[in-house]
Amino acid sequence: MHYSVMLKEVIESLQLKDDGIYVDATLGYAGHTREILKRVKRGFIFAFDQDMDAILYSQEKLEQIANNFLIIKSNFLYVKEELEKRNVFNIDGILFDLGVSSPQLDNKDRGFSYRFNSKLDMRMDKTAFLSAYEVVNNYQENDLARIIFQYGEEKYAKNIAKNIVRERTIKPIETTFELVEIIKKSMPKKDTFDKNPARRTFQAIRIEVNHELDILEDSLKKALSLLNIGGRMVVITFHSLEDRIVKNVFKEVSEVDKLVKGLPEIPDAYLPKFKLVEKKAISPSDFELLENRRSRSSHMRVIERIR
Ligand SMILES: C[S@@+](CC[C@H](N)C(=O)[O-])C[C@H]1O[C@@H](n2cnc3c(N)ncnc32)[C@H](O)[C@@H]1O
Repeated sequence: MHYSVMLKEVIESLQLKDDGIYVDATLGYAGHTREILKRVKRGFIFAFDQDMDAILYSQEKLEQIANNFLIIKSNFLYVKEELEKRNVFNIDGILFDLGVSSPQLDNKDRGFSYRFNSKLDMRMDKTAFLSAYEVVNNYQENDLARIIFQYGEEKYAKNIAKNIVRERTIKPIETTFELVEIIKKSMPKKDTFDKNPARRTFQAIRIEVNHELDILEDSLKKALSLLNIGGRMVVITFHSLEDRIVKNVFKEVSEVDKLVKGLPEIPDAYLPKFKLVEKKAISPSDFELLENRRSRSSHMRVIERIR
């Protein structure tokens, strides 16, 4: 079952105009785009995803309700370039709903989940070179340990990395279940009774495979430069490191530059172009948390172009 996180909050925050131009940077299974389209009858939506499965599904679903949209298969790092190719230089709002979708996680052939046995893959873009297989079988031990520790916040990262390297000298690690076994062997027995002892390591490898954190800051900054005055960016994150990047980018563009902060009057050119719509990140309602456990780690931040 596919559930769009904080759907109501996203739609309210975007302050959609019937004739606006909007971007959904993470189309997925079109839950958010569908609601945007219902409210933007005379405008246009550009929707991005790097996953062809998501695009094919969403194209068919959205065609049934509207024709004022275009789906672009691209990494959202290139939203600006892709829009410019189509002579679009300004937009009225953009949504980033980061990470993987439930259908990606639930598809046993994609190798995202420790719950199914499949080839190690985890690529959102099935044409990309780097897969979980490459990471697990070719990365150096210290890089594996760093990734699993930083992106997964896994306290047994060092042991897991050591055991991965040991096992792969015997034979390549090919499947998700082989990896799960190595992870379990790398922690004290009592911790393997944790519901999902492999969850943190799988998350870390997925983030590495898809460069999820590397591209975020640039993607947000480039997309912010497209916003019209009054236009908003909404970002939903599922990981504290992701949220920190969003928070810092938003802080940087919404605060007066330190260089001129002390001046009695700030010259116009130095006034921030953006304002935070909410000071703190927004979390899902208690009702949503009950309905969809996957939303529990999500945070939403909203910023508006003001000059
Ligand atoms: C959480 S899902 C979005 C769900 C969507 N909002 C909905 O309601 O159905 C994230 C989607 O963004 C895509 N995605 C993640 N990172 C991306 C990137 N850097 N470039 C393009 N698409 C990306 C994934 O393939 C996935 O389909």
